[in-house]
Amino acid sequence: MHFIKKRGWELPESAATPESVFVERRRLVKALVAGPALLAAPALIAGCEEEAPKGAARAAAPKGDPTAGLYPVTRNLRYRVERPLSKESDATSYNNFYEFGSHKSIKSAAQVLPIRPWTVKIDGMVEKPFEIGIDDLLKKMPLEERIYRFRCVEAWAMTVPWSGFPLKALVDLAKPLAGAKYLHMETFNNPKIASGQRQSWYPWPYVEGLTMAEATNELAFIATGLYGKPIPKQNGAPLRLVVPWKYGFKNIKSLVRLSFTDKRPKTFWEAIQASEYGFWANVNPEVPHPRWSQASERLLGEGRRVKTQLYNGYGEFVASLYKDLENEELFK
Ligand code: MTE
Repeated sequence: MHFIKKRGWELPESAATPESVFVERRRLVKALVAGPALLAAPALIAGCEEEAPKGAARAAAPKGDPTAGLYPVTRNLRYRVERPLSKESDATSYNNFYEFGSHKSIKSAAQVLPIRPWTVKIDGMVEKPFEIGIDDLLKKMPLEERIYRFRCVEAWAMTVPWSGFPLKALVDLAKPLAGAKYLHMETFNNPKIASGQRQSWYPWPYVEGLTMAEATNELAFIATGLYGKPIPKQNGAPLRLVVPWKYGFKNIKSLVRLSFTDKRPKTFWEAIQASEYGFWANVNPEVPHPRWSQASERLLGEGRRVKTQLYNGYGEFVASLYKDLENEELFK
């Protein structure tokens, strides 16, 4: 176990991105993934609707990404958020990605991450382990866009449109065995390109875990796009987890491996400091972090603080997952 004295996500409020005007980006609706992939998740796709285009034009898609033509995808309006979208430039320039540095300005450092070829390994308690390239995976998955709230444990928050697919679709593809209880997820480990991974006091690679019930909950999402474009490297290209009812550190980036297991994974931050960061990490305004309050959150790019909600406002989807777990530390 390592103890890190100062982490980037403890930067003072003054390090925040300055106030900027909210701009709702133009929505172009395009259903690109058809046939069997869509049929694979009828309930979710049934919730998809088109949204009228409004607002300003989108910034250019990242160069050299072969999936640029896939986006934007149809927005699923089942997942509504009552506050405005964060500005794209804020969400893509104020990041936590310790592989590239323990501060918020890792955007340019992250550009060295090679995202093709990119292979994801599926193993552990599955019918048959396999590896799949990101572009083959994308062809099999039902792509959609969802706007979710996002709440970092550091008490900053954003509201962003992720593109991607329900994690459940990937779990179904993996065919886990009946005894599998947890999903263990792993980020790439390449200290040659990721300077943060040369800092040997961190327990690389970054790993995270979910119970099977969490992984197959309808909210659990794998993002492959952001703001109607392939997800930028600094946000976790080419695929990252999005679990909006949990603190941001559960949302593991740049996945290379998903393993099914009957043992609860020890997560990256739990290995570093278990007294502050646990396995569950569900958002709860009434349970303070040992060193700061979680009662409110600062909206990225706005500076304004709003009240934090239990399960980040997603209780109707997830509270039932935890009803028999009173003895667990569900909120750190
Ligand atoms: N995933 C990896 N591999 N490495 C990281 O350092 N940071 C986490 C999470 N996923 C992190 C990670 C934390 S602390 C947060 S708050 C979110 O990513 C930030 O996501 P964003 O940069 O897209 O806002």
